[in-house]
Amino acid sequence: MVNLEVEVSGLRLRNPVMLASGVIGVTGKLLVRAAEAGAGAVVTKSVGLERRTGYGNPTIVEVAPGSYVNCMGLPNPGIDEFAEEIRIAKKGGVPVVVSVFGSSPEEFAMVAEKAEDAGGDAVELNVSCPHAEVGVLERSPRIVGQVVEAVKRKVGVPVFVKLSSNVTSIVEVGKAAEDAGADAVTAINTVRAMVIDVEACRPILSNRFGGLSGVAIKPIAVRCVYELYETLKIPVIGVGGIFSWEDAVEHILAGASAVQVATALTRGFNVFKEVVDGIRSYLERKGFRDIREVVGAAHR
Ligand code: SIN
Repeated sequence: MVNLEVEVSGLRLRNPVMLASGVIGVTGKLLVRAAEAGAGAVVTKSVGLERRTGYGNPTIVEVAPGSYVNCMGLPNPGIDEFAEEIRIAKKGGVPVVVSVFGSSPEEFAMVAEKAEDAGGDAVELNVSCPHAEVGVLERSPRIVGQVVEAVKRKVGVPVFVKLSSNVTSIVEVGKAAEDAGADAVTAINTVRAMVIDVEACRPILSNRFGGLSGVAIKPIAVRCVYELYETLKIPVIGVGGIFSWEDAVEHILAGASAVQVATALTRGFNVFKEVVDGIRSYLERKGFRDIREVVGAAHR
């Protein structure tokens, strides 16, 4: 029997396939549904200190099969109201990671503290939304380090940092997060993008700019995971374009200790079972006994 259980900075997962932060993570019940469908852990939609309605429509457009550009604009009810959804999500029986954002290091810390109080098993700091006018806009290593330090002073649960590929060096930002005390990094958030309607002669999305997710970004994500694994000592969680077990294994071979799935949920909740079963069969076929044997194997 192959062991698929992993530990990411103290967080025990029955399998390495997590639900990524995104539209499914807006309610506790949907998070429970992802857990029941087989996710090893679930991450909420990003939540801030105050309620935000987000941008007006259109906020999402499919640009190629399995690839979307979205600009939701970080809609959320605010952490005080969202606390109840976290409590409900816990009924799924898998770790609940709360994705948080803020407009300053102190605000990040306040939201993270409330997320922990509500029962969050870890927090994932969204310092990487590619288009919202709130949050940490300057993704410099210095600012990211300040955010991590502020949060680490306030919470005891593991702190993950979700990184952007929209920077000159994702490794520099990841290293700053690690030096400031981050427990893991998640790579990558969506890639800043734009789509123009040629008949209307104007950008399609209401916010003009959005973030590209899905099939199209997998090679970028795999490259980022590979680079981060080479330099960082803390675990890397891979996200970007994972639709199949092969996609997940690619991230794991690049160095991901766990992976996250988001856009593939457009094809249904069955993706968790399919990816987990596929990873298990792959490991059996290759003669491995433990998923950890293949983490980063592409470097050896
Ligand atoms: C959004 O709500 O606009 C997406 C959040 C993100 O990409 O970080």
